[in-house]
Amino acid sequence: MKSQFAALMLFAAALPTYAQEKPQSVKLETLSLEGMFQGFGTPHRDRSVDGNSLMIAGKRFERGIGTHANSKWTLNLNGAAKRFTAIVGVDDEAKSDKSSLSFVVLLDKKKIFESGVMHMGDAPKTIDVDLMGGKVLTLLVTDGGDGISFDHGDWIEPTIELISGSTAKIEPFMPPVDPPRLTVPAKDPKPAIHGARVVGATPGKPFQFLIAATGDAPLTFSAKGLPAGITLDAKTGLLSGTTLKGMRTEPGFVKNYTVEVSVKNALGTAKRKLRLVFGDQKLALTPPMGWNSWNCWAGAVDAQKIRISTDAMIASGLASHGFQYINIDDCWQGKRDANGEIQPNEKFGDMKVLADYVHAKGLKIGIYSSPGPKTCAGFEGSWLHEIQDAKTYASWGFDYLKHDWCSYGEIEKGNSLEAYQKPYLKMRAALRNSERDIVYSLCQYGMGDVWKWGADVDGNCWRTTGDIEDSWNSLYGIYSAQAGHERFSAPGRWNDPDMLIVGRVGWGNPHPSRLTPNEQILHISMWSLLASPLLIGCDMGKLDPFTIAILSNDEVLDINQDPLGKAAGRLKNEEGREVWVRPLYDGTRAVGLVNSGDEAQKIEVKWSELGLKNGQAVRDLWLHKSLGVLPEGVTIEVPSHGTVLLKVGNPQKNRYE
Ligand code: GLA
Repeated sequence: MKSQFAALMLFAAALPTYAQEKPQSVKLETLSLEGMFQGFGTPHRDRSVDGNSLMIAGKRFERGIGTHANSKWTLNLNGAAKRFTAIVGVDDEAKSDKSSLSFVVLLDKKKIFESGVMHMGDAPKTIDVDLMGGKVLTLLVTDGGDGISFDHGDWIEPTIELISGSTAKIEPFMPPVDPPRLTVPAKDPKPAIHGARVVGATPGKPFQFLIAATGDAPLTFSAKGLPAGITLDAKTGLLSGTTLKGMRTEPGFVKNYTVEVSVKNALGTAKRKLRLVFGDQKLALTPPMGWNSWNCWAGAVDAQKIRISTDAMIASGLASHGFQYINIDDCWQGKRDANGEIQPNEKFGDMKVLADYVHAKGLKIGIYSSPGPKTCAGFEGSWLHEIQDAKTYASWGFDYLKHDWCSYGEIEKGNSLEAYQKPYLKMRAALRNSERDIVYSLCQYGMGDVWKWGADVDGNCWRTTGDIEDSWNSLYGIYSAQAGHERFSAPGRWNDPDMLIVGRVGWGNPHPSRLTPNEQILHISMWSLLASPLLIGCDMGKLDPFTIAILSNDEVLDINQDPLGKAAGRLKNEEGREVWVRPLYDGTRAVGLVNSGDEAQKIEVKWSELGLKNGQAVRDLWLHKSLGVLPEGVTIEVPSHGTVLLKVGNPQKNRYE
């Protein structure tokens, strides 16, 4: 009897060991979360994205994964999976009625569950789906259609039940990180001129333009054919002055000057024709290039960071490749004084002193406001102070205004074209009457298809999307949505798919961009093909060599700054093999072979698809290499999430020469 009992005990003791050897289910939070991509923060095991206990609608959970939209996690099932179960909802820590998101489950890219849009406080939903026969499970948290702000989503008790007896493992998918496809040439000691080939301004308003040039110091600049009143600093290459005073009220007045610019050093001389256009609405004839404080600093911006960024723009050499604007985004504003004059907050001090500092280095400076009473970060907006604010910005010396819709939605509830245009027309008139040329950047996230009418309110550029973030999902979502917008792009009228996310970015908590090196190359290539403003968004004080290399490829920047001002369209997209084509002013074409697939693949384009004859010269702009004259087309292997940027065709006679 005693021995029978002992045997039974032994058997019972063996049971848990048996269960451990052959688990019947996998608790997904125990797997590596490294391959989970998300728009903000990092995913946490058994914690919310902000590191708190998992809580949905007042209920606390011990097990799960806290993430943030837009999030994507892909698991290889290896033939082992039977069912997936989980509970999902918005974490209570979001504490905002703006948090709205949706949970989606894909099996082999087919949707097998969708929660619908969930808000904070909604009861959690249960997922219980069949995985039999499936190979790849993808868990998505999407933003509910209103941007990712406050979108804290939890996968509670996410579990895969295994097929009985299966020994295969469930493995999180890690996209391959291929080596970046680029070569970085040694610095060329010979002089070379870069940047815009055409620059516009309003007659009679102060003019400033820094001729971007590289080569061993000292460089000496000279120019033939400058308009009266505009002078050149032979040491710095800064053109400045005022010309055609009194002409600016003449309707339809336009005057073109072709200036021959030369830059000389001990090794030789570089020459280029620069066209100066003076007339009404002639600003930003090529996409603005510069830096903006938001993607790196958000609310942590201050005057010192603006100075550091200004100095770094020069010291890093980026100004010598054409980057000129230093733009302050939100969070500079203080209160209005008794006369309603906007004051900077204590982190900024005297704005004129700051603007003078930037101008003294040959750069330009930008500011930010909202047509509403408050900006997006809750600072003072320009509502009912438009004329006053435009005058103030001009008196401080600003050259660029980003005007961000934000709280204007509380003033104007309608969604007619007139409602969308009204606040922008108001500020446009105020800027036009001010004493300076101020580039006008509309920011209203693409509402009412702004690309169709941004030019009618004299916007120089208009944001076409919600806010970008440093994730592949965000980058992919934004650039692919630009297809079809190309016909609205023209000199001085640019689609703006938001600021750059290379380098150290992080909205107050800078970290190295979470884009892979090839994704960063794709980003810069696409923004060049799309003729988008190039506003660097990273910590300028901590630029690394890779970031400088991808931001200072003159052959690529030349595509962005092409004076014809036409943007690329997407010629084809076959399973992530995308071809984008941009016509250039010298008769050639910029062609982007873009791989949005998860594996390296060959991308082909035939000259006939581009409407070209057989036998076209091809140059690879990231490898700085001519590929010769290719008979019928080109086929090149492109890394996953990478881009091969080509220039195709023989340049015809330069129309600015
Ligand atoms: C919005 C804009 C951002 C940034 C912030 C500032 O979200 O889209 O680019 O300007 O406001 O609050």
